[in-house]
Amino acid sequence: MGTPITPGPADSDLVRAARGLPVSRTPVWFMRQAGRSLPEYRTLRAGTAMLQACQDPDMVTEITLQPVRRHGVDAAILFSDIVLPLVVAGVDIEIKPGIGPVVANPVRTVADVDALPPLEPDRLDFLVTAVRQLVAELGPTPLIGFAGAPFTLATYLIEGGPSKEHARTKAFMYSEPAAWQRLLEHLAVSAAVFLRAQIGAGVSAVQLFDSWAGVLSATDYAQRVLPHSREVFDGLGDTDVPRIHFGVGTGELLSLIGDAGADMVGVDWRIPLDEAARRVGPGFSLQGNLDPAVLLADRATVDREVARVVAQGRAARGHVFNLGHGVLPDTDPGVLTHVVELVHELGRR
Ligand code: CP3
Repeated sequence: MGTPITPGPADSDLVRAARGLPVSRTPVWFMRQAGRSLPEYRTLRAGTAMLQACQDPDMVTEITLQPVRRHGVDAAILFSDIVLPLVVAGVDIEIKPGIGPVVANPVRTVADVDALPPLEPDRLDFLVTAVRQLVAELGPTPLIGFAGAPFTLATYLIEGGPSKEHARTKAFMYSEPAAWQRLLEHLAVSAAVFLRAQIGAGVSAVQLFDSWAGVLSATDYAQRVLPHSREVFDGLGDTDVPRIHFGVGTGELLSLIGDAGADMVGVDWRIPLDEAARRVGPGFSLQGNLDPAVLLADRATVDREVARVVAQGRAARGHVFNLGHGVLPDTDPGVLTHVVELVHELGRR
């Protein structure tokens, strides 16, 4: 009798859906599933600053596992933050509770760009340790690694913190084109270093978060941003893990986004997935796109909207169910568990 072959994370429905291969049922995970809505997260994090927690391998491991244990999602996402590579490189950034990343010395001049320290891979040992521990604990459940895309990181560096209009960022992009290019190249190299460390340690997929790309016109995105997101994916060489590319409000950019080199495109709730599938074109799977606010509504609404997203997702070559953006802090974790069960039931193939 032969030894039964245990399927590993590379054969998981998440990886298969991202590649457009047949799945047993629609896989589901939630952006920002770690933290935020979970009481066990708040207990564990109490007294530890966010960026401290991200650099403690045991805390990263435990927080990453919490939503997998509780909800039975089809993937874990590494507990970290998009600003972490900058912090590790030595940029003075703090994550203020309820606000987000705040940069002590925002980038305002060419000299500021040139003064940014490079990310040395040997500073990422804590991350490699965390990923290895997680891969061992997770067994067949895939671990998704991630990085912030150059544009979205540039918005934090230039604005000095979270912003709505990203007006300073755009002004810098238009008036300092050479410095803009150097800044985005720097951020692309650092994102690729951050992702390669995670891939080398065993993550099963990677997601590039370009959360704020939707504030750009298609022309500016194509000329001044997309080439640098492509540099991140190109910087991963021939590593064989599926690549996910996500942004909010990217409906008008979807026909371009695929050019950066992902296997799967994440979309928000503003356009239905069948329309998104048409816009991205045939070579891509889709991830999304339930409005996170729906999870605060009544159960009948939740059920109806989940069913709609699962059905419309069938128009794509592969579909991973997710929210259109991160879990809102007020979300009842019980609703998330319910959504996982419902997607698994409705998404059977
Ligand atoms: O599921 C997960 O939570 C995985 C870990 C994760 C975090 N940040 C932890 C976090 C991931 C994938 C991110 C990505 C991230 N960080 C993005 C891209 C995704 C998106 O939401 O568009 C962005 C833009 C950031 C920057 C950032 N970090 C903001 C805007 C904030 C403040 C708002 C908030 O969510 O509270 C953070 C802080 C942050 N990142 C927290 C966590 C758990 C909260 C920190 C705390 O608990 O004090």
